[in-house]
Amino acid sequence: MKLIHISDTHIGRGDNALRFERVVEDLLKNPPDAPGNCVVVHTGDLIDSATEANRRAARVLLDRLAARYRVLLSPGNHDYGNAVSVSNEDALAFQQAFGDYIFQGKPASFPVLSEVGAGYVFIGLDSNAEELKFLDRLFAEGRLGGNQLWALNHMLDSPAVAGRQAFIYMHHHPFSFGYSVMPDVGDGKSLYHLFAQLTRPFRRLKDAYSFCQVARDRVQGVLFGHMHYGLDCSGDARKYGIQLALDGSSTTCTDNDGEDRMRYRVIDLSDLSQTTRMLKL
Ligand SMILES: [Fe+2]
Ligand SMILES: [Fe+2]
Repeated sequence: MKLIHISDTHIGRGDNALRFERVVEDLLKNPPDAPGNCVVVHTGDLIDSATEANRRAARVLLDRLAARYRVLLSPGNHDYGNAVSVSNEDALAFQQAFGDYIFQGKPASFPVLSEVGAGYVFIGLDSNAEELKFLDRLFAEGRLGGNQLWALNHMLDSPAVAGRQAFIYMHHHPFSFGYSVMPDVGDGKSLYHLFAQLTRPFRRLKDAYSFCQVARDRVQGVLFGHMHYGLDCSGDARKYGIQLALDGSSTTCTDNDGEDRMRYRVIDLSDLSQTTRMLKL
């Protein structure tokens, strides 16, 4: 079974719709395995801002992908609003527009459990869930909340998961980014670097500690997006008995406008080996 991880396509910003279309075409033309042996996971920020036009454009592209592949989707902060805030109205609109991909034909609540192939389960979380309350919605760094973690805890003990390898997918990153390199100076992006440096520590999922306590030794892999760095956090995750933890980066290379380094990862679930497919526009 092959897992195709895409994330942070931010449709509606720049030429990202075109870029995602190119990725979709590539996946249709060059499947990494028989499509029936693949699952596509999109870890959110499908669209750049919560507008009807963006939802429509994204829907067309996801539908093309879903004609060949099974597609799972978890919502990001941009899907429920934008970079700095989320709203209940936009969350509902997104969940209604993409409910089939998010909830997989099940009742509209998280966590979402899906059997994938023989021996694997995928569990989708909404890492915006508690961001939709009061002041938490500012900065949109993600919080699962006690209710969702309680449900996840019980789900991991349930017969549906027993004996299977479990993979969790969500938008915000639960692992600390060991990103201690100082930003470049003199590249003309000083304000961007300053903002990134100052906000990095609190852009991690707020209840990451509790999540890791629930997931440890019970989950094979965790997939997420949001940071666009594309880091492999498996070293951190292994401290919790989780073998694989990947930031999906931005598949459309949205932070590098004008550059042609679109990419997606393909992970072989049998041995967790991974390859990255790079694409030009
Ligand atoms: Fe993003
Ligand atoms: Fe995000």
